[in-house]
Amino acid sequence: MELQRFTLNQRIQHALLFISTLVLIFTGLSVKYPGSWGIWTYKNAYTMGTVLLIHKMAGIILIAAVILNIIYIFIDWGHRDIIPRRKDFSDFAQMLRFFFRKSGERPKFGRYAYYQKFDYWAVVFGCALLIPTGIILWFKSGAASVLPASYIAAARTIHSGEAVLAILAIFIFHFYNSHYNPDDFPISWTWWHGKISEEKMKKEHPLEYEEIAKKGV
Ligand code: HEM
Repeated sequence: MELQRFTLNQRIQHALLFISTLVLIFTGLSVKYPGSWGIWTYKNAYTMGTVLLIHKMAGIILIAAVILNIIYIFIDWGHRDIIPRRKDFSDFAQMLRFFFRKSGERPKFGRYAYYQKFDYWAVVFGCALLIPTGIILWFKSGAASVLPASYIAAARTIHSGEAVLAILAIFIFHFYNSHYNPDDFPISWTWWHGKISEEKMKKEHPLEYEEIAKKGV
């Protein structure tokens, strides 16, 4: 049996986030490492301008996705499950014991495991750094009239460094958690249809499963 894990609204928010982020990564890396992506890299002012324009447009979509998520949280307070709590630390410790074969038992997760919460808050942290610094870099001359030049240089360093951190976190950590692990490889389609099998729900989110079973939903 299949259970509904994500609503259409949540899947649209996720799609806006990943489409804009993939474009931002592709175009951002073309700016950072010119000459490394064939025709996509700027070898002259025209292609550079185009790549940067696409980057900024994708930036607007990312900002829209963030605003949508904030509105969504305020409208529906039922998503407090994503807030970290003490149990996440003991779950993490138990997971390490399980990985190192000191225990035969996996921790029992509710709706979100500690690594899924980490994925969400890593995006919050990344956006909190990338969006303001991106806006400063976009409106450099305006920013330079109110901020010291060293702040603009710092914004560039932060934007560039956090972008690389975000890329590594997405392609290693998030992709392993959601797609590359042996249960989901090569891809989990939950992001598309929002569904999860009853079997996987029992294994990955037993506490949530128990709650659903109790309610008889
Ligand atoms: C996931 C989100 C994002 C990623 C991965 C990303 C990545 C990057 C990278 C790698 C660079 C090149 C930095 C360098 O040359 O060292 C860059 C530059 C830039 N980014 Fe982003 N970025 C993101 C979000 C944004 C947003 C939201 C905006 C604006 C609203 C933005 C605006 C800019 C601008 C204007 C530049 C050009 C800086 C310059 O003039 O050299 N970025 N971005």
